[in-house]
Amino acid sequence: MDRAEGMEAPRIDFPAMEGAPVIARWLGLAPRFDVMATLEKGPICYTTLLGKRIYFVNDAEYVKRILLDNVANYPKSVTYRNNLRPFLGDGLLIAEGEFWKRQRRLAQPAFHLRRLKVLAGAMADCATRMSATWEHGRVIDVMAAMNAVTMDIVARTLFGADLSGDIRAVYDAMTVLGEETGRIRPTAFFELPGFVTRPRGRAFAEAVATLDAIVNNMVSERRADMEKGGAPRDDLLHMLLEARDEDTGQGMTDRQLRDELVTLFLAGHETTAIALTWTFHLLAQHPRVEGLVRAEVDEVLGERAAPSFDDLERLPYARMVAEEAMRLYPPAYVFSRRAAGEDRLGPYRMPAGAHIVISPYALHRRPDYWPEPGGFWPERFAPGARTDRPKMAYLPFGGGPRICIGNSFAMMEHAIVLASVAPRWRLESIPGREVKTEPRITLRPRGGLPMRLLRRQGPA
Ligand code: HEM
Repeated sequence: MDRAEGMEAPRIDFPAMEGAPVIARWLGLAPRFDVMATLEKGPICYTTLLGKRIYFVNDAEYVKRILLDNVANYPKSVTYRNNLRPFLGDGLLIAEGEFWKRQRRLAQPAFHLRRLKVLAGAMADCATRMSATWEHGRVIDVMAAMNAVTMDIVARTLFGADLSGDIRAVYDAMTVLGEETGRIRPTAFFELPGFVTRPRGRAFAEAVATLDAIVNNMVSERRADMEKGGAPRDDLLHMLLEARDEDTGQGMTDRQLRDELVTLFLAGHETTAIALTWTFHLLAQHPRVEGLVRAEVDEVLGERAAPSFDDLERLPYARMVAEEAMRLYPPAYVFSRRAAGEDRLGPYRMPAGAHIVISPYALHRRPDYWPEPGGFWPERFAPGARTDRPKMAYLPFGGGPRICIGNSFAMMEHAIVLASVAPRWRLESIPGREVKTEPRITLRPRGGLPMRLLRRQGPA
């Protein structure tokens, strides 16, 4: 070890690809890259892929340096561009530098507390409309149902649009995109032409075309409405349409607008849907916790069907349940960065050009941060519970300046959907059906999540 330069992190074999011939790995034929396999490998380790170093950083202090303290040295990685750009374009999630700053400033006001307060009623309407279609004894795919409701919520609250007719098409498009882009090929780690890093088939092109058509339609309807002198709406779509560059006075190009809308639309519904889906699964497995949620919601709501914004602070247990569910199953279970220049993480050297993988899933299951990490125990998040855990040991929404813009929106939506369903319905697991994770771009349950709907002898 050279003390001045820092220690080398331990080297491991490429996760889940050990033993596969190089050519098979290159073509993406080898078993797919499995970030979960790095979980037990310590606070930091690296592997090499054709000379490129890929680091797995699983320590809250090192992660803090990457996401916050030395954030300028750690832009988003090339895998973001290779995997997500083909359909998200240069929206907020991928943008960098001054352009990112400007776009974030433009979108941020739509997520202020003052705005969120106004949206609670619409969120509750969407949730009660969903459960009004439910029938006692029926088996539904909870993943699909939650996707539909969160999509409905994002479309209505942020874009003032009714996309209920497009729900299935978007869900199918997302499945195709998740399927194609979630399988990280070794080529995704390199700056190569798009056709090498991500050969795209017809299904992919059709999925992108579906999303483009929906978003373009939404924009042209709104523009037509504005031209007809329709009253200006106080929503995100309006803000983005009206946004002007401070220096040039220019609005966004149609392409930029499309990229932001597709990004917000996709980032804004699938993740919350996954958080809700795992929550219902966990509640079905833990009747004690389910009973506590129901008691809290019954007491706060009484005869009412759904909570208001002001009710939310009186539902602390429901919030703790959401936090604990996202600890065990963080929907964005992995994200990545690039080390632009050399750096030190604690005693370890981080070389310039390295690719860095951060996994909230792995951090959330470290036993020194989370005693009995596999247990579902919402009390961990009780106000006043253990506070000596480093802040970045819990990262469902990322951290630092690139933290999720929809963080508070998502927490509020989760609480409203849960509190609208819990008093009237119990979602029961299907006996004998094993529930497994499907790590793609997000952490969906494999093959969806069928559950049986049981109507409760509720207050209504
Ligand atoms: C439970 C729900 C959600 C989870 C778990 C989640 C997770 C995340 C994470 C981990 C990041 C950071 C990625 C990185 O640092 O590389 C992120 C960024 C982002 N999220 Fe979310 N998200 C959720 C809900 C939402 C919602 C509701 C919206 C919008 C309506 C949204 C929009 C975005 C955007 C635009 C970014 C990029 C922000 C930037 O770089 O400035 N997300 N999200």
